[in-house]
Amino acid sequence: MLKTNDLCYSAIENDVEKRILHNINLSFADNKIYVITGQNGSGKSTLLKIIMGIIHQSQGDVFYDGKNISNLSIYERSKLGISFAFQQPVTFKGIKVKDLLNIASEEKLNLAGMCEILSKVGLCAKNYIDREINDKLSGGELKRIELATVLARKAKINMFDEPEAGIDLWSFENLTTLFKDMDNSINIIVSHQRKILEIADEIIVMKDGEILLKGEKDDVLPMLSNSSCGRLRG
Ligand SMILES: Nc1ncnc2c1ncn2[C@@H]1O[C@H](COP(=O)(O)OP(=O)(O)OP(=O)(O)O)[C@@H](O)[C@H]1O
Ligand SMILES: [Mg+2]
Repeated sequence: MLKTNDLCYSAIENDVEKRILHNINLSFADNKIYVITGQNGSGKSTLLKIIMGIIHQSQGDVFYDGKNISNLSIYERSKLGISFAFQQPVTFKGIKVKDLLNIASEEKLNLAGMCEILSKVGLCAKNYIDREINDKLSGGELKRIELATVLARKAKINMFDEPEAGIDLWSFENLTTLFKDMDNSINIIVSHQRKILEIADEIIVMKDGEILLKGEKDDVLPMLSNSSCGRLRG
């Protein structure tokens, strides 16, 4: 169980304090898929970055299995089993796909293991394992490689920030299957896409740094269809 307790986040912009997250209280149970949606700028990425420890909350705490992890570093949270795929994937000059998969994985991966992971994200291993993770890869390829590193990690909490961004419509089915198969972890997905919202156990809607709505998918999805708060695509 992952919990956020009264999380707040403010940043200083032009000497003025800007409130970005306000009193976020959420619980994420084991083996469930949570999809967070909401307007651009509503604070979704900020929330995931705080849970991962990339930025630090101004107030409040994050608990994982009853332990307060608020003061742990990114590395320590990663060791606890938390992983995060960025909205804008990171490039690593000089590092090849096979290196990154091996860094992500606890055990050394052989070619068959890499092939299995890369095929789940729609990439053919022989074309990619020796490629450097630099800006010569397309946006969609980078996004897929980042998803593959999260799969290789076999983490207990997987957080994906708009995993569909840059992924072509033809591959959407594979993407949703991939998430549905990750059923022995907590999966938190930020998305604007209806097809991703449909695979959620629970949906959380954010607006202006607050939780506007949260609940079972079957209760929340119909409300989103008729409102402007979610701005669903697809
Ligand atoms: N360090 C910062 N300084 C100033 N403003 C910030 C800072 N970090 C985030 N913001 C602002 O906080 C708001 C929330 O940003 P965030 O990236 O969490 O939004 P989001 O919900 O992920 O949006 P999107 O759907 O566009 O990805 C935005 O208005 C953003 O400009
Ligand atoms: Mg975002």
